[in-house]
Amino acid sequence: MKHFELRDGTLHAEGVSLERIAAEHGTPTFVYSRAALTEAHAAYAAALSGRDSMLCYAVKSNSNLAILNVFARLGTGFDIVSGGELARVVAAGADPGRVVFSGVGKTRDEMRAALGLGIYCFNVESEPELHRLAEVAGTLGVRAPIALRVNPDVDPKTHPYISTGLKCNKFGVPIADARRLYRTAAGLPQLDIRGIACHIGSQLLDPAPVAEAATKVVALAEALNADGIELAHLDLGGGLGIRYDDEAVPATADYLAPLLAALAGRKERLLLEPGRSLVGNAGVLLSRIEYLKRGEDRNFAIIDAAMNDLARPALYDAYHRIAEVRPHGEAQTYDVVGPVCESGDFLGRERALAVQQEDLVAIFSAGAYGMTMSSNYNTRARAAEVMVDGKAAHLIRERERVDALFAGERLLP
Ligand code: LLP
Repeated sequence: MKHFELRDGTLHAEGVSLERIAAEHGTPTFVYSRAALTEAHAAYAAALSGRDSMLCYAVKSNSNLAILNVFARLGTGFDIVSGGELARVVAAGADPGRVVFSGVGKTRDEMRAALGLGIYCFNVESEPELHRLAEVAGTLGVRAPIALRVNPDVDPKTHPYISTGLKCNKFGVPIADARRLYRTAAGLPQLDIRGIACHIGSQLLDPAPVAEAATKVVALAEALNADGIELAHLDLGGGLGIRYDDEAVPATADYLAPLLAALAGRKERLLLEPGRSLVGNAGVLLSRIEYLKRGEDRNFAIIDAAMNDLARPALYDAYHRIAEVRPHGEAQTYDVVGPVCESGDFLGRERALAVQQEDLVAIFSAGAYGMTMSSNYNTRARAAEVMVDGKAAHLIRERERVDALFAGERLLP
């Protein structure tokens, strides 16, 4: 992972040693590299140069205000899925006029908040949502900008939990119904049709399914034009994967090339909603080994991070590389586990590590869907977050305090 490398025998984030961060901020701590964020963004910017486009960073992948602010300064828009994410984007100083709002269950309150702030577009995911949005916009006396999220029934060839563009998924409207629904939308004066949206899944390594989805979206755009409906943009969602282990991951430009080819000749602005590919390999989870426990069958490295900090291994059986911060001694094989009372609480299985008790380890590729999916299970306070920028390490989220975890709870009278 670029920007997380050994220097003088110790793992660094850019110019700062992870040992120093652990000493100053404790563990477990998520550590991000600003340079890695900036470079991931630059790869998209270069691949899209010369094309009218807007990158809408998927806030769900990592919603820390400092990260949102770094992207806002780079000029991205944002893809949100809740009123909470909208509040974060605003708190980070971003322009609501560059926000798209996805999600299958938008409430009236969320619609009102988003309309009040003047977001760029709602990605509407069902017919009843279309009617509810028209009603809410009507009561506010405004027009709601919309795209319909269509489900193109394309197999993205990724983990079943993160495929979203198949017929069996809850997302979007069937592409076959879309033309009728756009006519319905065109007949509702409270709605302002802006585009078409589509997102087929996450951790995609093959560009072909996205290009296939783009081809279907283009066919729909042509049909809508024939119906007299003009579109300002086509939104092809997020999804580009990252390297966790030894996957062959296409460069951003190579991944986008077939998609851009499918859109050749279309004049609409292109929107993309990448999350993981912008932040995933810009962060590690820094953790300390509490115990090395030698079992009959296997050895365990029991660390102070757990499934509540990084849920992906427990939830998806996902692989995250784990490395010593300062490798020394002979490597042995360990199951790297957390203190949570679940057998599923593992961060990695059968890993060779040259470590001793109380050493530090780094769990790689933890920038996306790490902190945002963390929980307080076992009344564990959530980790701190630090962003490194050159030789400076900035605390961007304090470690949660245990008393804050039950501050809202009440005893019976
Ligand atoms: N747009 C929409 C509508 C989405 O649903 C998602 C992700 C994205 C954009 C961003 O996708 P990305 O570029 O990050 O692949 N928790 C899972 C991933 C869930 C993704 C959900 N939707 C994981 O840890 O692998």
